[in-house]
Amino acid sequence: MAETQANDVLVSFRGVQKSYDGETLIVKDLNLDIRKGEFLTLLGPSGSGKTTSLMMLAGFETPTSGEIQLAGRSINNVPPHKRDIGMVFQNYALFPHMTVAENLAFPLSVRGMSKTDVAERVKRALSMVQLDAFGGRYPAQLSGGQQQRVALARALVFEPQLVLMDEPLGALDKQLREHMQMEIKHIHQRLGVTVVYVTHDQGEALTMSDRVAVFHQGEIQQIAPPHELYEHPRNSFVANFIGENNRIAGQLHSHDGERCVVTLARGEKVEALAVNVGQPGDAVSLSIRPERVRLNGHSESCVNRFSGRVAEFIYLGDHVRIRLEVCGRTDFFVKQPIAELDPALGVGDVVPLGWAVEHVRALDPLSAA
Ligand SMILES: Nc1ncnc2c1ncn2[C@@H]1O[C@H](COP(=O)(O)OP(=O)(O)O)[C@@H](O)[C@H]1O
Ligand SMILES: [Mg+2]
Repeated sequence: MAETQANDVLVSFRGVQKSYDGETLIVKDLNLDIRKGEFLTLLGPSGSGKTTSLMMLAGFETPTSGEIQLAGRSINNVPPHKRDIGMVFQNYALFPHMTVAENLAFPLSVRGMSKTDVAERVKRALSMVQLDAFGGRYPAQLSGGQQQRVALARALVFEPQLVLMDEPLGALDKQLREHMQMEIKHIHQRLGVTVVYVTHDQGEALTMSDRVAVFHQGEIQQIAPPHELYEHPRNSFVANFIGENNRIAGQLHSHDGERCVVTLARGEKVEALAVNVGQPGDAVSLSIRPERVRLNGHSESCVNRFSGRVAEFIYLGDHVRIRLEVCGRTDFFVKQPIAELDPALGVGDVVPLGWAVEHVRALDPLSAA
């Protein structure tokens, strides 16, 4: 990865660790540079340490060791309200006894801004989230989505250099969530503010982010732009957490530079990209995306060719997922756009299939966790 210019970095975690009980490290050794203006997402399963990391950045938790810098200056001893950071959480936490406009004015008044300036800023913030006519309402008079837009406006109204969002859309239904994802992304693009966003939803992370840091058990597994994360997962955890994935267990047979040969349980050989493998004889997990598997005649040009027995079709409107029995597995999935589906294909049929070497990755065997 290219060396990040020091003056492009807004936030820097340096060797940050966090333990709540003095024994277990919830955040193990966090080293992370967040660039000015970037939309960075912390993605990981529940309990992986995302919120803890965000809370340390916000100043509500103290690192057990290590340092956090904001704009080149250590903030370990700077209280939350002096960090110039806006925040949005899942439960909107608007003041219920204040109108929308009063909620938005609050962070400005506490900063000692004049009444005229406050009024002007509030007006602009309302317009930014398309709630111009709602200034006089109370939070209880708004829908969940509208309340979340107010929370967003309130986090941005004092024009902080950094905004933190922790699962801000978690309480919204799917359609509204997807709408708000785009809205937040567009606001980010317009304002150029730096955003650190937390979610356990990989689709949300891929849609919104410039870069995604994948968390697991208090450690970053990989940090990369969405496309790279999806196409070039560095280990089994990332490959399985992001997107769908066929996994086949095998043993490393030989390894030559970027490529390797893996032997499957019944002796079949697969030629794969050697991404995260040990020595010949070691266990490996092969990872193949369902959309990369080619069926019938399309498989003829593939280096890795097998056959599969069709077990089930699952229709999803625009595409179909076909479950097959392949190489001893009964849960091997192939994804096909409806337009490419062979209408003659039926359950029980045995079809040739295959995948290219560049679409199968040999990774560490996934632990049971
Ligand atoms: N205030 C706290 N005191 C003790 N343990 C905590 C506290 N906050 C979080 N934890 C623990 O730290 C781990 C990581 O939690 P958290 O950072 O909230 O993860 P995430 O946001 O990824 O779900 C969990 O096991 C959780 O129980
Ligand atoms: Mg959390």
